[in-house]
Amino acid sequence: MESKQTIEAVLQGKIALVTGGTKGIGKAIVKRLEQAGATVIVTARNQPNEPDATYSFIAADLSRAEEVNKVANAIHEQFGRIDILINNMGANTFPGGGFNTLTDEHWNQALQVNLLSSVRLDKALLPKMLEQKSGVIIHISSTSGQFPIWESTMAYSVAKSALNTYSKALATEVASKGVRVVTVSPGLNKTEAMTTFLEDYAQQAHITVEEMTSKLFERVGGVPIGRMAEPEETAELVYFLVSPAASYITGANLIIDGGNFPVVK
Ligand SMILES: NC(=O)c1ccc[n+]([C@@H]2O[C@H](COP(=O)([O-])OP(=O)(O)OC[C@H]3O[C@@H](n4cnc5c(N)ncnc54)[C@H](OP(=O)(O)O)[C@@H]3O)[C@@H](O)[C@H]2O)c1
Repeated sequence: MESKQTIEAVLQGKIALVTGGTKGIGKAIVKRLEQAGATVIVTARNQPNEPDATYSFIAADLSRAEEVNKVANAIHEQFGRIDILINNMGANTFPGGGFNTLTDEHWNQALQVNLLSSVRLDKALLPKMLEQKSGVIIHISSTSGQFPIWESTMAYSVAKSALNTYSKALATEVASKGVRVVTVSPGLNKTEAMTTFLEDYAQQAHITVEEMTSKLFERVGGVPIGRMAEPEETAELVYFLVSPAASYITGANLIIDGGNFPVVK
């Protein structure tokens, strides 16, 4: 029987960058990749106080073009290359209420945070992957990219939808050059961002967070599994996709949503 050590060392020698790796899904991905032996670099705006952290940290606001270059330069100087790029960072911090509530600034910010941060980081790090003829890029999207809810996710959904299209185009462009590009679309995950989202909307609607959670489940059409995902469950899919076991998967958009989508896609 294969030993646990052999199974866990699948990513030994690989260098991975996880954007937004300090919380939620990103944090779970960092743990999973480290467990598999990868050297992990994390970016976020704020460095958490974690004295035992084993990852390297680069502080950056990736919604700003110049900060993306800062991250890419630091990586090239310190590590020379990236084998696995997880574009996880993203956010729906825009007001609900539909078209009339969203300003130009909200739209611009939604695209910077959820689309252009990935486009720019890929552009900066991909040439080295192409040079070494290997690499994997994951774009963490959302089921919102295929299922907009006008009351609460309009700008976010549009940005994630654009990310899905960009990811597919990039995957096709680089598939024959040794680099795989895959999109992962999570459904509802129990993260800090989700907690804040539920608390804010519950407060606005003068209901409890539990009532708001039920409303959200109803609004998305129900979650057959009956609960949100733990971020670790989403991270497990990401781990599989960056591992050699997924060597024939590129250009796909993997939905991980507890059965939420009611149609065959
Ligand atoms: N949670 C869900 O239910 C759900 C569902 C579908 C898709 N997703 C997607 O999954 C991804 C992760 O979501 P999450 O819920 O895990 O988020 P989260 O808990 O809010 O964590 C977001 C991470 O990104 C960082 N970040 C945020 N804005 C940033 C910026 N401008 N520049 C650099 N780093 C930034 C945060 O750190 P700092 O604040 O310190 O920068 C943090 O590390 C996102 O792309 C999200 O759209 C989430």
